[in-house]
Amino acid sequence: MDRVSERRAGTCRGKSVAQASRTTPLLGPRWRSALGVLSVISLSAVPGITRADDMVARGAYLAKVTGCEGCHSAHDAAGAVAPSRLMAGGDHPIRAASGTFIVPPNITSDRDSGIGGWTAAAIVMAIRTGRTPDGRTLSIAMPWRTQYAYLTEKDAEAIAAYLLTVPPVPGEGAAAETAR
Ligand code: HEC
Repeated sequence: MDRVSERRAGTCRGKSVAQASRTTPLLGPRWRSALGVLSVISLSAVPGITRADDMVARGAYLAKVTGCEGCHSAHDAAGAVAPSRLMAGGDHPIRAASGTFIVPPNITSDRDSGIGGWTAAAIVMAIRTGRTPDGRTLSIAMPWRTQYAYLTEKDAEAIAAYLLTVPPVPGEGAAAETAR
């Protein structure tokens, strides 16, 4: 990123814009440029100080590209996720190692049908190790062993933070193995 676009990016970010513009009369262009760079760094580039809503947004993105959303939601006729069924349970069974098929369960924040009663830490554990709070080991029909074991703790935490914001949808979602 060149200096100009760094500065432009810096002045685009809500909080720091106000702070920067309040201080500009006191500071020369060099300082202003340094402030712009600092605000970009402090708000977006340094891990560990990301704001909670940024974390949820990243989790939403990861839940799409790692396939959680596709597997755990029902789809409309064109194959898009039906918004009212987001994470409320899949509509096609996935083959498990045993050769039987499992329908991906409801993982909305519904406390009874989904995972609303789980802590974020428990969700992270399930994603990365397949272990659930009630002592089950998830089938590899959910690709935790081959894929999600390699997610960073931070990315898994972002996915968990996002999942807990998904509106509750009651019903469905039994992870019952359906033999074929
Ligand atoms: C290929 C389809 C598939 C993908 C992709 C997938 N899952 Fe799953 N998931 C399943 C299936 C099938 C189960 C049921 C496994 C079982 O009961 O043994 C499951 C179970 C779960 C459970 C346990 C729910 C419960 O009540 O026991 C959680 C939590 C979960 N998945 C979260 C996720 C997250 C988060 C992602 C994305 C990082 C994801 N899944 C991606 C198919 C998938």
